[in-house]
Amino acid sequence: MITRRGLIQASALSAIVPVAQAGEAQPPIIRLHLNENPYGPSDRAKDAIRAAINDGWAYDNEDVIVLRRMIAAKEGLKPENVFICEGSTELLRLVAAIFTSGGKELVAGLPTFLAMPQYAARSGGKVRFVNVDAAMRLDLAAMQAKVTDDTGAVYVCNPNNPTGTLVAAAALNAFIVAVEPRALVVVDEAYIDLVDEPEKTTVIEQVRQGKNLLISRTFSKIHGIAGLRVGYGLGRPDVIRALEERRISVPNRLGLKAAIASHQDADFLAFSRMMVSACVAYTEDAFEKMKVKYIPSSGNFVLFDTRQTSVNFAEYMRGRRILVNPVLEPTDTWCRVSMGRMEQMEAFVEAARGFFKS
Ligand SMILES: Cc1ncc(COP(=O)(O)O)c(C=O)c1O
Repeated sequence: MITRRGLIQASALSAIVPVAQAGEAQPPIIRLHLNENPYGPSDRAKDAIRAAINDGWAYDNEDVIVLRRMIAAKEGLKPENVFICEGSTELLRLVAAIFTSGGKELVAGLPTFLAMPQYAARSGGKVRFVNVDAAMRLDLAAMQAKVTDDTGAVYVCNPNNPTGTLVAAAALNAFIVAVEPRALVVVDEAYIDLVDEPEKTTVIEQVRQGKNLLISRTFSKIHGIAGLRVGYGLGRPDVIRALEERRISVPNRLGLKAAIASHQDADFLAFSRMMVSACVAYTEDAFEKMKVKYIPSSGNFVLFDTRQTSVNFAEYMRGRRILVNPVLEPTDTWCRVSMGRMEQMEAFVEAARGFFKS
């Protein structure tokens, strides 16, 4: 069962966005609450969008095929292993709708990215949450123990949002082998390009081997095009076909153009990774100096302990026009700050110093 507080967590985001008053001259809001990447879109993505703008009237789109082929070639898969969608949230909700309806259950960690658990719960499915371990890592053994004949899917976010922790590839691969005969395993790799060794962390090899596994990826993070809504799934052709049959919308033309340009732009991706990693190092170091407990992060965000309900911290920051994301479950003292531009992180650290001093 999803809990009441879990549902509150989603709405907490909207509740902390300051409402602009007409005619008020205010410094800009610093958005450190949604794990966006302010370094995007890349110049090549912007050029591609400009060049395509006159085609905005048309529905159908060859670029879905182009992007599918590009991703398949890069990942050592076939185009029929690739599902292109309007952001990976759509993919995760679609999976919940297909695999965890009709009395089937979803097993997920807590805290984690809640799009899939929330959708499953709101569509009448049951969610079996398993708290992270003492080191804030997903507890794969406990999650495996929750899998029964009623389980439709298991959601593993790696690196996990909001903890920033990674589960070791060997442990995750063993988990997939144990669980996939009974239920679809969904591994959310939204932040995979930001980890130190993506090729050793991804579980893509098991998709190549035809396991009952779906990997979720997105262009919203390292590519910095969250607002253009492009994500993709990698899985067995029968799983991909099930998603295609149930999809609701068609991909956005301009988003696809941006994704195709960005996918080929190794320089931009390296730049993006470098900026995120510099901001994470700076923020973690600042927490160290403030003696604030934090979890070393493999994503573009850092989870830290505010030592009181994190909603208070978020309110304090909101008063300084900085948005952060309070995490309310399983305990409510932790808060997540996303990596913005370095000067935004400096503003965050200065404000945080004031909070933790008082
Ligand atoms: C783990 C995880 N998966 C998926 C998403 C959503 O990405 P998209 O913009 O592709 O819907 C996010 C966004 O924060 C996320 O943290």
